[in-house]
Amino acid sequence: MERLQKYIARCGIASRRKAEQLILEGRVKVNGKVVTEMGIKVSENDIVTVDDVQIEALEKKYFVMNKPRYLITSTTDDKGRDTVISILPKSYQEYRLFPVGRLDYDTKGVLLLTNDGEFMNLLVGPQSQIEKEYLVRVKGIVTKQALKKLASGVKIDNYVTRKCKTYLESIDRKNDSSLVGIILQEGKYHQIKKMFSALGYEVKRLTRIRFGNITIDTLKEGEVRELKIHEVKTLRVLAMKGQTEKK
Ligand code: URA
Repeated sequence: MERLQKYIARCGIASRRKAEQLILEGRVKVNGKVVTEMGIKVSENDIVTVDDVQIEALEKKYFVMNKPRYLITSTTDDKGRDTVISILPKSYQEYRLFPVGRLDYDTKGVLLLTNDGEFMNLLVGPQSQIEKEYLVRVKGIVTKQALKKLASGVKIDNYVTRKCKTYLESIDRKNDSSLVGIILQEGKYHQIKKMFSALGYEVKRLTRIRFGNITIDTLKEGEVRELKIHEVKTLRVLAMKGQTEKK
């Protein structure tokens, strides 16, 4: 069951706000009866009409993109810059996809896209402990001590990051840089850049190489592929697992 305005939005008829307007204007019927209050919930078995035309929920879709750098992770950008949605093939636009969480403008790698809001909330909501793995190119030589500190939690803004896993992938002494792997179970705004900055390191490049069970595999930058049913199931299980373990 989901709220009527959310259901209408998911049918691709209107944004949620516009859907609320349609309801208030008395243009929406559920099982033949006009509904003007906002609270009611419907399921896919209910017959919903807008201006007496029956609407149907969009098929739920799940994709993974190998996000290139210099793209905004949102559906639109008020400055007209390219977004992860605007570079999708035209035929995908009808699915009304949106990104699952965010990657920075200059971060590349694994980004999930869906039109299933409930799935998105499960994966990136505050309860989710699904693992996100990143490779971080850092200026300078990262010490073992710094790796340990990152793993045990550092203060960023007014918050101490949760325990995480870190590993040193390689060191480039000639260019004075290090490649560090980090596996987080949370996703605060600019978290990795802030964590390294808290220890005096500058992040030069950031790549997400894994989201739960999903990696980039053979996808080239900018390419997308539809997730298999079992991959979507596993993502749900991984996200729920964190939630049940926490209780
Ligand atoms: N942490 C960051 O700082 N940026 C990202 O894009 C993802 C995690």
